[in-house]
Amino acid sequence: MSKIIAPSMLAADFGNLQSDIEMVNNSEADWFHIDVMDGVFVPNISFGMPVIKAITKLAKKTMDVHLMIVEPDRYIKDFKNVGADILTVHYEACTHLHKTIQEIKSQGMKAGVSLNPHTPISVLEDIIRDLDLVLIMSVNPGFGGQSFIENTYKKITQLKTLIEQSNSNAIIEVDGGVTDKNIEKLSKVGVDAFVAGSFVFKSKNPTETISTLKKLVSN
Ligand code: DX5
Ligand code: ZN
Repeated sequence: MSKIIAPSMLAADFGNLQSDIEMVNNSEADWFHIDVMDGVFVPNISFGMPVIKAITKLAKKTMDVHLMIVEPDRYIKDFKNVGADILTVHYEACTHLHKTIQEIKSQGMKAGVSLNPHTPISVLEDIIRDLDLVLIMSVNPGFGGQSFIENTYKKITQLKTLIEQSNSNAIIEVDGGVTDKNIEKLSKVGVDAFVAGSFVFKSKNPTETISTLKKLVSN
């Protein structure tokens, strides 16, 4: 499978969302990464259904929706209705994770689970075969523009082993502090999909930055 670049729309210019969406459409990016924050699971609030619906309307690529919210089960259908293709919930926010994953799949979406930096890979042992994607947080969720946590490499290596040993089809996504300095090493240890917010949108030429990232992981 070729590697995936997923620009995080959290770092886009909300006053000019349409032009940033078109930039992603016309770039080598593969997915739109959409960060939903509720001010409870994380100490920040981002955006909700109307904004996601507006993005979906213009976006021509896969909608990769990352829920940083408590009780995600309450909104699974709503996220399907506003255009989510992949729906990722946090392990730390789900008491009945297996049920949540089945519900996401029954709505026709791919199902992902995200782990905070302090949560060990071992908690996924009994769910890994049910997952389409595992999202490893390489920063504490809540804000863009934070520094990459180095312990992430070790976690990715452990996750890769778990996936292989379990014959799981899950792909590995990493989120937070991804730049041209760490993306190659992340790719080598087994990451399939890379979220990049600030590094893309705060750069002089976001389209070129996306191409640069794509090239770095295409070898
Ligand atoms: C953080 C979000 C990330 C964030 C990444 O809570 O889940 O997707 O937008 O932003 P950067 O790439 O700036 O670290
Ligand atoms: Zn995210």
